[in-house]
Formats: sequence, structure tokens, C-alpha cells
Amino acid sequence: MKAIRYHEHGDADVLTMDDVLEPTPGPEEVTVRVHAAGVNPIDTYVREGNVSPEDGLPHIGGADVAGVVEEAGEGADAFEPGDRVFATGLGLFEPGTYAEYVSVSESKLAPLPESVSFEEGAAAAMAFATAWRGLVTRGDLSVGDVCLVQGGSGGVGHAGVQIARHAGATVVATAREGEPAEMVRELGADAVVDYRADDLPTEIREATGGDPVDVVLEPHAASNLVDDLDVLVRSGRITLIGEDEEIRIPPGAAMTGKIADADLRFMSIMASTDDQGPILRSVAPLLGDGTFEARIAKTYPLSEAPAAQRDVLSGGTLGKIVLEVT
Ligand SMILES: NC(=O)c1ccc[n+]([C@@H]2O[C@H](COP(=O)([O-])OP(=O)(O)OC[C@H]3O[C@@H](n4cnc5c(N)ncnc54)[C@H](OP(=O)(O)O)[C@@H]3O)[C@@H](O)[C@H]2O)c1
Repeated sequence: MKAIRYHEHGDADVLTMDDVLEPTPGPEEVTVRVHAAGVNPIDTYVREGNVSPEDGLPHIGGADVAGVVEEAGEGADAFEPGDRVFATGLGLFEPGTYAEYVSVSESKLAPLPESVSFEEGAAAAMAFATAWRGLVTRGDLSVGDVCLVQGGSGGVGHAGVQIARHAGATVVATAREGEPAEMVRELGADAVVDYRADDLPTEIREATGGDPVDVVLEPHAASNLVDDLDVLVRSGRITLIGEDEEIRIPPGAAMTGKIADADLRFMSIMASTDDQGPILRSVAPLLGDGTFEARIAKTYPLSEAPAAQRDVLSGGTLGKIVLEVT
């Protein structure tokens, strides 16, 4: 089969299209014919060697898959050949999804509704699993909460806005003015604030009518944590999913956090969880009936994975970048 691999860590130029053996499913695994693969920032961190893959080099990256079950392994009885499925959390501890076939533990899989295209399934997988885990599982988001979704026009953020709205929260999101902010409003945010604002906490307070924030989904903690603490309710939760660089909490902000009994929670949808499958099984019917929508900014053929990975880090993406595989 064709697969995008890298034989050494480095920039996107290390990615090559190789001919490799098709995988066979292990116990409680199925092999999936990949129709579409999501492109995520973590794919680039793994490729660079910042999060080394355990199965060594050469490595096939890619966390998200949507496709059709080709073959079930011993003891795998929840899915049958021909079933449409999607999954996330691959490509770190095992070969990933930038390939025509991938073997996946059955526990990670969810059925993909007929009404959801493979491209949308691949776009949704990590974004919705991460936002759901960050807001619902780790963030304890409840009806009536005020929720701040940072990076609302990005992959995880646009899923977070929809999940928070569906949970019955008041949703304030950050996104750049113009098209990004418009998209976030369309997806259900009650208010949108430009993350580049000079005084972000004041703008967030104005957007909430002065109410403090109960739960924050934070993909850029190094930039925003101090502001998040400033707007947080007493005992509020901040789920930190990304940091970009070292997170610093200066003394004044640390005191604000202490006074607020602020609750900082971390998570990794790749490494700190085995609930990707159950979460996607909750998300799937909501994608199927149109409650949730995975926005696709751009698709690339598998052969153009290097360009797709450059694009995912370039900024300005509205939703997700997806590889069309077969
Ligand atoms: N812990 C986990 O389990 C987990 C899972 C998935 C992703 N992540 C991490 O979360 C981060 C976001 O992932 P993603 O897939 O959503 O990436 P993405 O699609 O590139 O989205 C990032 C979003 O953040 C916005 N943004 C940039 N700088 C910002 C700032 N200072 N404050 C607020 N928003 C800002 C971007 O807006 P513009 O493009 O308009 O500038 C963009 O909308 C990445 O670091 C990723 O590695 C973590």
C-alpha cells in the first residue's frame, strides 16, 4: 500500500510516499481502509521528534481516520467488514493514518453515520474528541455555565463552541475579527472576542455582561493563562490542551488564581486517555443529525501531506485540514 512516512525527524520535507506492506489486524483490532485522514498540529510535533513515536523509524504519522472496516482480527466483534468508522489517537504509539490501510484497536472506533462524509469524519475525530474531553469530561461543563473557548475558529475550538452550546452553556469564543469570528458566531457562540485585543479580560467581561467564566478550553496557555485566571469564577476550571511555549504565571496572576481556587487541568487526547472511542460514539449521532458540524478548511491528496502539514501550522485556518486518501 501507499503510505506517507518519514525515516528521520525533521521538517515537512522528510515526509515521503513509500510502498509498504498492508497491516494485518492484531487481537481485538480491525484493519480500516482509509478514505480520509485528519491533519493535526501533533502530527508535526511527532514528525519533528518532539514527541517521539514509540514504534521507532520509519514511522507513519496521522492521528485521525475515517474509512471502512476491511478485516476484523481475533476477538474483534463490534464491527464488521464494510462498516463505516472513524477514530482518533493513532500515529503516536503505533503506525498512523497517512496510509491506505491502518490497524486500529476496536476500542478506539466509532460508527460513522451515513450522512457524514469520510472527510468530515476525519475532520471531526481529534477536534471533537479533544473538545468533548476538555469541556465535558475534564472541564465538568454544566447547563448555565459560562464557557470561554479560546481559538474558536481552529480545529478543536470550532468543535468546542458547538459542544459548549449543546451542553447549554453561554459560549464566549476568541477568534480574529472578520471571517473567523463570523464562522464562530454561525457555529453558536453567543459572543466572539478577538484574541489580539489589548485588554482581553475586559473584553471578555463585557461579552459576558460581567459574569465570570466557569470553564475555559485553552489551546494557547502560554499566551492566555494569565487572562484566563483574570476572568475565572471562584473554583473555575481551565483545561489546558496546548501551550506553544513555556507557561509562566507571574506572582500577581498566581495570587489571583489562588484567591479564585482556580482549577488547572491538563489532558492529552493521544496519551492521557483511553476514552477516545466512547467519546466519539457520543459525538457520532450528533454529527449524524446535524447538531455538530465539522468544518473543512481545505483538503489535500495523500501525496501532498507535506503541504498539508505546513498549512496546519500556518494560522488562519477555519476548521480542519484533511487528506483524501482513497
Ligand atoms: N491536549 C490535547 O489533547 C490536544 C488535542 C488537540 C490539539 N491540541 C493542541 O491544541 C492547539 C490547537 O489545536 P488545533 O488543532 O485546534 O489547531 P488550529 O486548528 O491551528 O487552531 C488554533 C486556533 O487558535 C487560534 N489562536 C492562535 N493564537 C491564539 C491565541 N494567542 N489566543 C487564542 N487563539 C489563538 C488560531 O487562530 P488564527 O489561525 O486565526 O490565528 C486558531 O483558530 C495545538 O497546540 C494542538 O497541539 C491538544
